[in-house]
Amino acid sequence: MEQVFKLLHRQSEVIWNDENWFEKVEKNDVVIFDKTVWNLFPGKQYFQEEQVYLFQAKEANKTLPELTNFLTWISSKNFSRNDTIWGIGGGVTTDFAGFASSVYKRGCRLKLVPTTLLAMVDAALGGKTALNFDNVKNGIGSFYPAETIFISSSWLETLPKSEFDNGLIEMIKTSLLEKTVLYDNILISNGKVDDTMLMQTALLKMKLCEADPEDKGIRRFLNLGHTFGHVLEAACHYKISHGKCVLKGIKAAVLFSLRTRYITPEIAEKILLPLQQLKLDFVPDEKVDISANLFFQDKKADKEVNLILFNGFQSVFIYQTNKVHLLKEVLEEVLYERL
Ligand SMILES: NC(=O)c1ccc[n+]([C@@H]2O[C@H](COP(=O)([O-])OP(=O)(O)OC[C@H]3O[C@@H](n4cnc5c(N)ncnc54)[C@H](O)[C@@H]3O)[C@@H](O)[C@H]2O)c1
Repeated sequence: MEQVFKLLHRQSEVIWNDENWFEKVEKNDVVIFDKTVWNLFPGKQYFQEEQVYLFQAKEANKTLPELTNFLTWISSKNFSRNDTIWGIGGGVTTDFAGFASSVYKRGCRLKLVPTTLLAMVDAALGGKTALNFDNVKNGIGSFYPAETIFISSSWLETLPKSEFDNGLIEMIKTSLLEKTVLYDNILISNGKVDDTMLMQTALLKMKLCEADPEDKGIRRFLNLGHTFGHVLEAACHYKISHGKCVLKGIKAAVLFSLRTRYITPEIAEKILLPLQQLKLDFVPDEKVDISANLFFQDKKADKEVNLILFNGFQSVFIYQTNKVHLLKEVLEEVLYERL
């Protein structure tokens, strides 16, 4: 099954459950393969050794020096603009492959096979590519939607639980943004993810991206929990996973919405139910020192902070504030209490 979306005047096609995606890799294509996934992959014989670039997927490699290594490697191939760069792996790999495709020969074809839950429901969709730069996560990047994204839940069998939970938290986040049965499906899923839920999450994300491909309006709803989450990630020196930080961020957004009387306690409880039921919340092992300045990480201190808040169940809006001490207080409050 396939669905075609239109992003930035380009077609982005999502193909579901095509277990034979590798048959579409052409002789001249190159394949950036997450090394861990490659080691687990039973179909190595379908690729020629010289077309596979093994990529050690970690944040420290989503960088310009690693891009230079890749570009030097691909330049030795007989690769033209009409050939395709494939990215197979989690979000680190799809971001890296996306960025590389957007710059090599001023842009070549890109196909992605996300293999983590997070990449299936988020990173590989919507056309954002990035590298880390100058100690800033995703400091440089481009909008370069993949021509095709192959999504299949079969990859999830080997995914470690902590990585799975990161994706699940993003799925829950998406289920809270607008009226959708995804929320109910998550509640009855018992923590399992099937292809229908993957499809529902991807559709919601792609709908927001189609409506606002350059992230200037409603696509920013996808940042629910991320303003607080990024502050927490930085405050704990990236020792707590992105997903767990976003979870605390969603809790903080709910508490802030409650304090500002945009929602009632009953609605707050309903919003938080999936996070609670799936036992995804946690209490940090160590004390985390949250500095108010972290809310201005990538902004001038006189600017306002953008938050995504709730004004109902499955209803969110963009809210701007400069009351960072209130933000800090709310984040600290949700940090040490488990749902
Ligand atoms: N471009 C976007 O819109 C967007 C959105 C969200 C996140 N991101 C980016 O995504 C990245 C995080 O992605 P991620 O969480 O997928 O991390 P990741 O790519 O680092 O993958 C996590 C770990 O899982 C391993 N792995 C991947 N697939 C596996 C499988 N099927 N079985 C076993 N192990 C597997 C990887 O080798 C890695 O060790 C971040 O860099 C973030 O900035 C981008």
